[in-house]
Amino acid sequence: MTYSCIGLSKICFLLSVTFCAFLLLLLPKFQTSWRPRGYPQPLPSPPFNSCKSEFHHQQSEPSLTDHLDPEGTDTTHSVKDETLEKWGDYRLHTRASILKLKEQNGSSTNPLQTMLKDHHAPAGDFIKENLELKDIFIAVKTTRKYHKTRLDLLFQTWISQAKRQTFIFTDWEDHELRLRAGDHMINTNCSAVHTRQALCCKMSVEYDKFLESGRKWFCHVDDDNYVNPKTLLHLLSAFSHSQDVYVGKPSLDHPIEAADHVQNDESTTVKFWFATGGAGFCISRGLALKMSPWASLGNFISTAERVRLPDDCTIGYIIEGLLGVKLLHSPLFHSHLENLQRLRGESVLQQVTLSYGGPENKHNVLSVAGVFGLQQDPTRFRSVHCLLYPNTTWCPTKNIL
Ligand SMILES: *[C@@H]1O[C@H](CO)[C@@H](O)[C@H](O)[C@H]1NC(C)=O
Ligand SMILES: *[C@@H]1O[C@H](CO)[C@@H](O)[C@H](O)[C@H]1NC(C)=O
Ligand SMILES: *[C@@H]1O[C@H](CO)[C@@H](O)[C@H](O)[C@H]1NC(C)=O
Repeated sequence: MTYSCIGLSKICFLLSVTFCAFLLLLLPKFQTSWRPRGYPQPLPSPPFNSCKSEFHHQQSEPSLTDHLDPEGTDTTHSVKDETLEKWGDYRLHTRASILKLKEQNGSSTNPLQTMLKDHHAPAGDFIKENLELKDIFIAVKTTRKYHKTRLDLLFQTWISQAKRQTFIFTDWEDHELRLRAGDHMINTNCSAVHTRQALCCKMSVEYDKFLESGRKWFCHVDDDNYVNPKTLLHLLSAFSHSQDVYVGKPSLDHPIEAADHVQNDESTTVKFWFATGGAGFCISRGLALKMSPWASLGNFISTAERVRLPDDCTIGYIIEGLLGVKLLHSPLFHSHLENLQRLRGESVLQQVTLSYGGPENKHNVLSVAGVFGLQQDPTRFRSVHCLLYPNTTWCPTKNIL
């Protein structure tokens, strides 16, 4: 009895070993079939086919990042590599939100895990979709004192190219603005003061209106941002709106740390990246729906209270801190906090958002030459607009480029 039992387990053992060896032989074949054809392979095993190849597509066009130099030094290549790494990280972390695989090394080199991941989320989910401008919801946050000074400029320039996509969130029932924007002006009834509570109140309404709209992408910008609808569409087309995507640019070079006041006397520390609201950011519908317990119907305000943070930080807290989805750092978004003169030449026209220095920093504006002078166009938005849309009636007909 004992003898035959041992014999049986021996046979079983040998059979399993053979089977495993057989599987191991097959694995490399599976792996190669997942690789996008003809692209260089900076990262091991790409389970995220469409996204990755789309990214390479973007990279191979000199337009988007080549001239861009966010650090102010000549680091085109290292910037690229860094972005690649971030995307790779993002790629793995979005999957990690399903599988809780924290280690980049482990998850990318273990073929079994790679296959497991593909099993959980079929590659079809990540095939680029035919995104149109009408699928995007652009929320512009403003306040009554800027209706004339800032909004007029935006209506004259980029909003004229994205009227149906753009919604103005303000704090005052302005009849002139109502005539101009119709139901695309939303009076949030939030306070007009620039406090954390008032800002979070507006973000909360923006979020709810986006969900209500049924659109695929939520993008938030400020009233001192220029949005290039074409490059925005191009950027978002690299994803599927059902993926978890949070894209924008942090204003800090490190993650923020905050105390999470779960209960009155207890608090834990959370560390997360957030995209600065002043540069604009976008969230996919899939991710926005997951945020709902902390963001919808006024919950956003109580979440913000819990961490005592402003609106854009609270968004980062919900997405990175609570949902475990990583911010995708993009160099294409720009706030007035950065040195905008670093953006030069053609690259200005390739960005998704632009901005201009506030009253305390009047000289921080884009260097765009050849259309309007600095006196005529202190923000440079009109010049940028004429370079992008030379047929605009108020643009000079000659001297363009
Ligand atoms: C990956 O492995 C290398 C060395 O094998 C190590 O230095 C690095 O920290 C690891 N990265 C992660 C994310 O674990
Ligand atoms: C703000 O108040 C007005 C008037 O009471 C109301 O019609 C509108 O729906 C409110 N806005 C929001 C976003 O709740
Ligand atoms: C701009 O104007 C030129 C010349 O009149 C014309 O050929 C072109 O189609 C126009 N482009 C747009 C987008 O209207």
